[in-house]
Amino acid sequence: MVNTVDTAPLLEMSGIEKSFPGVQALSDVSLKLHRGEVLALMGENGAGKSTLIKMLGGAHQPDAGTIAIDGKRVDLSGPMAAIEAGIGVIYQEFNLIPALTAWENIFLGREQSGLLVARSDERSRAAALFERLGVQVPLDIPGRQLSIAQQQLVEIAKALSQDVRILVMDEPSAALTPQEVERLFAIIRELRSQGIGIIYISHRLDEIFDIADSITVLRDGRYVGDAPTSEMTRQQLIEMMVGRSIENEFPKQAAEIGDARLVVTGLCRGATVRDVCFEVRRGEVLGLTGLVGAGRTELVRLIFGADAWDSGQITLDGQQLNINSPGDAIRAGICLLTEDRKTQGLVLCRSVRENFGLPNLRHLSVFGVMQQRQERRAFAGYVDSLTIRIPHQEQLAKNLSGGNQQKVVLAKWLQQNAEVLIFDEPTRGIDVGAKHEIYQLMNDLTGQGKSIIMISSELPEVIGMSDRILVMHEGRITGEITDVPSTTQEEVMGLAIN
Ligand SMILES: Nc1ncnc2c1ncn2[C@@H]1O[C@H](COP(=O)(O)OP(=O)(O)OP(=O)(O)O)[C@@H](O)[C@H]1O
Ligand SMILES: [Mg+2]
Repeated sequence: MVNTVDTAPLLEMSGIEKSFPGVQALSDVSLKLHRGEVLALMGENGAGKSTLIKMLGGAHQPDAGTIAIDGKRVDLSGPMAAIEAGIGVIYQEFNLIPALTAWENIFLGREQSGLLVARSDERSRAAALFERLGVQVPLDIPGRQLSIAQQQLVEIAKALSQDVRILVMDEPSAALTPQEVERLFAIIRELRSQGIGIIYISHRLDEIFDIADSITVLRDGRYVGDAPTSEMTRQQLIEMMVGRSIENEFPKQAAEIGDARLVVTGLCRGATVRDVCFEVRRGEVLGLTGLVGAGRTELVRLIFGADAWDSGQITLDGQQLNINSPGDAIRAGICLLTEDRKTQGLVLCRSVRENFGLPNLRHLSVFGVMQQRQERRAFAGYVDSLTIRIPHQEQLAKNLSGGNQQKVVLAKWLQQNAEVLIFDEPTRGIDVGAKHEIYQLMNDLTGQGKSIIMISSELPEVIGMSDRILVMHEGRITGEITDVPSTTQEEVMGLAIN
């Protein structure tokens, strides 16, 4: 007799269907995961990846279809059932309790499964988990004070603390630096060697070819195909995901670079931003890179008036600016697309159209209905050009896939018609097709003489799209690369860690 445990895949999902009001998120999707396999689940924003894995975590129930582990059908009726089945899921959206510390968050809710251990023991187990991850996360500060990267690491530690056979990671690397990703991969390889099956979701193709054994692709909620990674090229994968080929991933068109527009002199804030001087010119994309914590976000928050600066001076087109709030910055023609779209970019319980119109709210009382109609038309243009996947403009922001939320925030700032646009990680979580559209939009903007400051940790993007690169380290600018076409990732990294 054949033993199903030996022959059946570790996990098999078959004929999975799921719809939400107005959206068929998944139709007839199947997937197989084997022991000791890293499977990349790929697809455009809104393809249905998160919806599929939420079923593994017991957060959603399929409308139809089956899930089997070791050939035996399982009913993942809720989060506890998933944990008991040996499935750990790291969600794209963090679920940390803001008032609890990092280590309390790791062990939260485990009391119910009979694993209650002494609290001091939990704290030291948390410390050991972070040590295993090779990262430093303050154990005792509340979740709300952790940076995005730290929150991500807490989520990873939380999943590792469970005794998992199947580990699902939904864009775990989105907020991590290249070094942190390397450490994460070392852990994934170790878990794989123990026979654990891993489902890995990311929009960074380099990572997929580095870590995944096989790739399954979804498009518009349907299964498109799967193959061992070794049998797939980057171009083939892109084509499977977006349904067309993309010749040049970084379609940089150099605009004519003119005079300095935004000039920053001697900008300081405590220990985070130290005597920063730089300028960005007409038609220029200035790449700003460095490790997380190097002060890049802190620097642009000062320019945008989100934080106060201790000393320094900022001029735009020769005029000294007196910026005390984001409102002042927007009026002066400066806008900032923040990296943290969840807390700083979107009002989740409002419709996407309302979110798009938010910066205009003060005009609304004057122009009322007319403004709303214009807003609707303008937004429709972005839905088209950025391929934002929504059933209608009144859809609540919280119901959008992660990447589509990011696109709404981007559209909101693009229509502000600013002269200097600051993009903080503009393509984080965005699929390869939409990235291409965003790069083309950047070309259009610089072609109109606007200036862009682009913060990015993705070095291929920084090198592929910048006219000039500044590197920050510990609050200072530590390097400038003017001949971008002949630089390398190694050179940029070298300046970032010097
Ligand atoms: N709770 C919900 N209510 C309504 N629609 C939803 C809900 N959750 C997901 N959707 C829709 O289902 C579709 C699939 O979304 P999903 O989050 O699975 O995409 P994804 O592949 O994870 O995309 P991304 O790469 O942007 O994270 C999208 O059209 C999304 O708007
Ligand atoms: Mg998702």
